[in-house]
Amino acid sequence: MPAKLYIDLKQLRKNISILAGVSPQSKMIAVLKTNAYGHGAVKLANSLKDLDLSYIAFANTQEGIKVKRGGYDKSILILGANEVDDVLTGIKEGFTVSIASFEALQAVKNFDISGLEEIKLHIKFDTGMNRAGIGMRRAYEFLDIFADLLKNRPKIKCEAIYSHMSAADEADNSFNQMQHDRILDIKNIYKDKIGKDIKVHLQNSAGILNFPNYKFDWIRPGLAIYGINPGTKDERGLKPILSWRAPIVNIRTLKKGDAVSYKMNWLAKKEERVATVSVGYGDGYSFRNSNGVGVGFIGGQRCEVLGRVCMDMTVFNLGKAPAKVGDLVTLLGSDQEKSIDACEVALRIGTVANDVVSSLSPRNQRIYSN
Ligand SMILES: Cc1ncc(COP(=O)(O)O)c(C=O)c1O
Repeated sequence: MPAKLYIDLKQLRKNISILAGVSPQSKMIAVLKTNAYGHGAVKLANSLKDLDLSYIAFANTQEGIKVKRGGYDKSILILGANEVDDVLTGIKEGFTVSIASFEALQAVKNFDISGLEEIKLHIKFDTGMNRAGIGMRRAYEFLDIFADLLKNRPKIKCEAIYSHMSAADEADNSFNQMQHDRILDIKNIYKDKIGKDIKVHLQNSAGILNFPNYKFDWIRPGLAIYGINPGTKDERGLKPILSWRAPIVNIRTLKKGDAVSYKMNWLAKKEERVATVSVGYGDGYSFRNSNGVGVGFIGGQRCEVLGRVCMDMTVFNLGKAPAKVGDLVTLLGSDQEKSIDACEVALRIGTVANDVVSSLSPRNQRIYSN
């Protein structure tokens, strides 16, 4: 009996519509990379087909191909930075691809595009994160080469330039304004070098919610479409679309001194009722939940993890929770009056909410509702 992920597609569409309302002047690129942050990219993409999205976006071409083969027939954007082969495969697949390096630019320049129709590119610039994209210091040099490419290969169109925010969850951090200003500087340089206006995108979820005064042509939300708070005080009615529940496969009563799980590092101080639950780090339930860090809800009661999380199983202390074999333990979502979300789990185990959900492995059964 695998653990189950219940995914509410109606709430997904509601979250998208809330975000569109926050930034009504912008079109939307919905970020569905890493299997739609663990929610299941093929299913989610297909459920969004009739929305007015400019793109769904992935980290690499393989992710895009999986969704295309799964029946999604609308526009796909591949975000940078990627290996050169990945960029060229993306072009062959008809995706809009990011150019985030001089190497990628050179490869596109040398690529035989005779059999292809129009090729759409976005250029990624690095406005301060020092991770991916063309750095500010080399923007002139890059755009000189790019101007030549556009002149000599009319099939190649540049649709947008973009960058990524480093600290958009820190609403008071002036680094955000600096990145905002820098991408606008690049927009001006682009106009000088290429002789045309270019569209721009910058904001991830926290950028959209914390800086609604930034007015760019597209927004690029990930976390917020799944209803996960990206680090904003005003959630504007966004709600998680995911609940994670795992079945109890065994209940036993321990005597004082009995040990639980590998390495015997939890010992019962008194008689305790404990439940073995069919979830482990093989499902994405982090090992860092071990030894009382992780909690689940059973019959509306908060229950702690005992001992080590294993690959397929985890033991929870039932306390006074009414429970029987087959009942489901809530690991994310609501149970009666109680609830736990990805941000709380992240805080408990010392990570970020993106890590909690994108770790949800294929072994979980995904159950979708409309
Ligand atoms: C380039 C880019 N844009 C947008 C996003 C979406 O970010 P978030 O999930 O914080 O909204 C990501 C995710 O990391 C990204 O890498």
